[in-house]
Amino acid sequence: MKVLGIETSCDETSVALVEDGRLVLAEKTISQIPLHRTYGGVVPELAAREHALYIDQVIWDCLEEAGLNWSGVDRIAVVNGPGLVSSLMTGITAAKFLSLALGKELVAVNHLKAHIAAVMLKEPELEPPFVCLLASGGHTQLLWVKDFAHTERIERLGQTLDDSAGEAFDKVARMLGLSYPGGPAIERLAQGGDRNAYRLPRPKLANQFDFSFSGLKTAVIRLIESLPEDFCRKDLAASFQENVCLELSEKLVSAAKYSSLDKLVIAGGVAANQRLREMLAIRPNYRLFAPDLKHCTDNGAMVAAAGFWCPIYSGLNFGVFAREK
Ligand code: KG4
Ligand code: ZN
Repeated sequence: MKVLGIETSCDETSVALVEDGRLVLAEKTISQIPLHRTYGGVVPELAAREHALYIDQVIWDCLEEAGLNWSGVDRIAVVNGPGLVSSLMTGITAAKFLSLALGKELVAVNHLKAHIAAVMLKEPELEPPFVCLLASGGHTQLLWVKDFAHTERIERLGQTLDDSAGEAFDKVARMLGLSYPGGPAIERLAQGGDRNAYRLPRPKLANQFDFSFSGLKTAVIRLIESLPEDFCRKDLAASFQENVCLELSEKLVSAAKYSSLDKLVIAGGVAANQRLREMLAIRPNYRLFAPDLKHCTDNGAMVAAAGFWCPIYSGLNFGVFAREK
């Protein structure tokens, strides 16, 4: 089955054609990062305008790259949340129109589930059950995935109580004078830095699988205020990255122990971080599954993949949502 996936939940207009949830036939993305960089973060109004401007072009370019016309597309999948409502609307409207006009099956896909499906693209032999760390700009969650197709069989073991891991990277990057998005910028700066240069706090929380990054953010602000102006930014970036990656990796391994599973899955923008991958890859008795770097951040391929694994299609009758309940 060939599924066309449409992603417009934040700052990427991205469309892909994926066969049987595993094989990417074509993908096209227009990233708005250069536009939002000027403002230090995503401006929802501008994001919505850009999606509306480019969605048709991205869809047609994707079909052309695949060498297919509409008769070769079996199903359309689109993200309907969580995300920026005004941005999501463009993808949903395009998908509903195509479904109605062409008589194609339509599936509404949860953005977080799509991030997990990105791992299936890279790792053809990966099957549930597994534990998954989903760490993006909007979310940080630990999930026990018992069955991917049925959402009620995905158990949330923990989540962030305040900032997401991606947000922590973005905020600390701004403090260090780096540009948006902060994750890759911190990762680059941290190269060659001393990861033990600064001791930063780790939270103690009631649920061992929850996260909190606001204390760390405050500690970094205080530290910068107390340091001379010419402090070594490399060392601070490396120490901060080490702290976040330890927090994420240790909790993922604890979740695997708790659920007696040996498959560790990471997904979402922060899963692109090489230090995080390194920490998890060396864990004895566990096997790490991670998406391709280009499928860690938002993309249409993960949506198409998730759309394939959905057992039922939605019809036209679905709305949009900004946050999960
Ligand atoms: O999944 P994503 O593209 O968007 C959301 O669904 O939120 O994630 C974007 C987030 C940003 O906060 C970005 O700074 C972070 O992922 N990120 C990284 C890296 N690449 C992207 N964080 C750490 N290291 C990276 N290499
Ligand atoms: Zn995302």
